[in-house]
Amino acid sequence: MIQARVIKPHDIEFFEVPAPEAKDLKDNEILLRIHKIGVCGSDIHVMHGQHPFVTYPVIQGHEYGAEVVAVGKDVTAVRPGDKATARPQLVCGECGPCRNGRPNVCEKLRVQGFQAPGCAQPYFVVPEDRIIRCAPHLSYEQIAIMEPCAVGIHASGRTDVKGKNVIVTGAGTIGNLVAQAVKGRGAKKVLITDVSDLRLEKARECGLENTANTAKESFEDAVKRVFGDEGFQCAFEVSGVQKCITDLVANIEKGSDIVIVAVFSKNPEVNLAVLDEHEIRLIGSMMYLHEDYLLADGMLADGRLNVDPLVTQRFGFKEYNEAYDCIDNHREECMKVMIDLEATE
Ligand SMILES: NC(=O)c1ccc[n+]([C@@H]2O[C@H](COP(=O)([O-])OP(=O)(O)OC[C@H]3O[C@@H](n4cnc5c(N)ncnc54)[C@H](O)[C@@H]3O)[C@@H](O)[C@H]2O)c1
Ligand SMILES: [Zn+2]
Ligand SMILES: [Zn+2]
Repeated sequence: MIQARVIKPHDIEFFEVPAPEAKDLKDNEILLRIHKIGVCGSDIHVMHGQHPFVTYPVIQGHEYGAEVVAVGKDVTAVRPGDKATARPQLVCGECGPCRNGRPNVCEKLRVQGFQAPGCAQPYFVVPEDRIIRCAPHLSYEQIAIMEPCAVGIHASGRTDVKGKNVIVTGAGTIGNLVAQAVKGRGAKKVLITDVSDLRLEKARECGLENTANTAKESFEDAVKRVFGDEGFQCAFEVSGVQKCITDLVANIEKGSDIVIVAVFSKNPEVNLAVLDEHEIRLIGSMMYLHEDYLLADGMLADGRLNVDPLVTQRFGFKEYNEAYDCIDNHREECMKVMIDLEATE
């Protein structure tokens, strides 16, 4: 089979390697046929040589839709023919967080596609404890987007959003999915902000009706327009931009939570005097737990998550480099770029 490897920044090359075979599976292992791989922001950092925790060469691919080809003799979670994906987190199982049921922040966390080989090849083996059996009516593309959905679901579960007015700053793929997950969990009203009309248009296509372009309307005016005198009681920062965290801290109702989902490339300033006096809590959110994937599958299956508008471009497996060129040249227009492996062997 053909494997795609990032040899060095800006250079993906293809290598012929032996395909894993059913007869070599361990008792707890599953052989997958990879159909679609999604490209995400972190992959782009790897391609640009800007990911702090990656050494080259690296095999990418951590968001994927696959079909079960064969299973080891102890596997009961899936059967050949099932649609599936798997969590890309490799954890130690022994550290404090792992023992406390929080393996997403394992002290020795390695993520496939970054610190461990990813799935950029037609056949891939995963152990049963990371497999997700997906609703059969989901497409392989929808399943490939389950990973960022799980990010949104995990973040939206870090505080209680039920019945609250919620703001999500940043309408990229992750902000969009955080906002959809917040809505799906029963928030009263959700406002999503961005400085890109294109991204906000996508948000509306996904069913997020309250949007604001804060390059054109002030944050305070948008809050007033959407929530009236009620204000907002919960927020998610998903842009990584200083102004957003400043606006959120300054305007959120006293006693509320702000979940930080974005990775800030520059350490932002936060007004701790206001944080203190207003009893605002800043809460981190890192990837997901297995249950977040299961909820993502359920919310995709019942339509609470609408991911179809997020797929903006599609490329064949051998066009991996072209996919990244497209992302570099059309950053705003590119939301989820899909790599299609269906024609590969
Ligand atoms: N916590 C996690 O587990 C996790 C997982 C995946 C991604 N992330 C992080 O989430 C963030 C979002 O990811 P993404 O893929 O959606 O990125 P993205 O770059 O596509 O989205 C960021 C959005 O913020 C918008 N933005 C810029 N300035 C703004 C402003 N002043 N107000 C409002 N919006 C503004 C941009 O236009 C863009 O649409 C990134 O920082 C990423 O690293 C975190
Ligand atoms: Zn990703
Ligand atoms: Zn651990």
